[in-house]
Amino acid sequence: MSPNSTLRDFIERMPKAELHIHFDSINPDVLLKAAARNKLTLPYQTLEEAHKWHDFKDLEEFLGKWLQTVEVMLTEEDYFEAAYDLGKDMERQNILRREAMFTYQAVHAHRVSLEVMMNGLAEARKAIKKDFDRDLYFLADIDRTQSPESGMDMVKSILPYAESVGIIGVGFDCQEVGYPAKPHKKSFELARENGFFLSAHCGEEYASGPIAVWDIIKNMNPDRIDHGNQSIRDAKLVQYLAESQIPLTLCPMSNVGIKVYNDISEHPTIALRDRGVFVTVNSDDPPFMKNDLVDNFCKLAESFKLSRTDLCDFARNSFLASYATSEQKKQYLKLLDDWIESEV
Ligand code: ADE
Ligand code: ZN
Repeated sequence: MSPNSTLRDFIERMPKAELHIHFDSINPDVLLKAAARNKLTLPYQTLEEAHKWHDFKDLEEFLGKWLQTVEVMLTEEDYFEAAYDLGKDMERQNILRREAMFTYQAVHAHRVSLEVMMNGLAEARKAIKKDFDRDLYFLADIDRTQSPESGMDMVKSILPYAESVGIIGVGFDCQEVGYPAKPHKKSFELARENGFFLSAHCGEEYASGPIAVWDIIKNMNPDRIDHGNQSIRDAKLVQYLAESQIPLTLCPMSNVGIKVYNDISEHPTIALRDRGVFVTVNSDDPPFMKNDLVDNFCKLAESFKLSRTDLCDFARNSFLASYATSEQKKQYLKLLDDWIESEV
């Protein structure tokens, strides 16, 4: 591969997918414009103030701030702009496919009808395909801290929008300690019956631990695990993950951002990979964690001295672990292989 390109340049140009990013973590510039249109205020007035404000001692504090900023989102235009911004960013980082989560129950339901939000997302998705030729899909997350009935209602309510919005999966997120999966089993079953893939946030913080990952495996039978970094603490679980090849959507710099690890060098991405676990690299909440997908790749590469081949293997995993059809996967992998060939 061309020795002249810098590592960051190489990572930026490498074709890749991102499987774990929250739509609801909206860039401050998009939110400031929505706030101005709707004559509302944010906890910050400028991008510099936003940067300072995005600091957290743990997941709890992050989730609180996460909910605060989106309060300025009211109209279809606001939702269109936020989703379209994800597409512009895909172009910037050469992300061919993104599967972005939204958590309607926790973040939007008290303020905006599902119809307003879905209309904005559906229009943006079409525009992203037309303007950038990039594929944006969505995962509808259940807020695990809300009642099982509320989760069921959410799954039912998205059914009419699945096609136009490109909702291909149902996820499970928000605070996990004290909120097990079992009460939500019926929602998972309903999602499955309706053809959705299933993934869940689990094993993110130290306090949730490997047991939270087992809980999801037993009660959800997931297609992917979001985070799952705490699995490294349980040898049996690591062995199970290696054998089953359930992909993990790891988010190294997000874990550092909420102080699960002090530094990227402590992150188990490479340790898990080396034990045969199917791992992918993702950003989670870029404006909050101040690291996008390229940053996550760069920091791992620098800290663990990864080769360009290692990085391309991560890109390959991102397509293989996606919820794309086998035909789509073939096309993405061909683009990646052609690119690798052109770099040699
Ligand atoms: N929602 C947005 N980011 C999240 C995270 N890192 N963990 C749980 N829920 C989330
Ligand atoms: Zn997440």
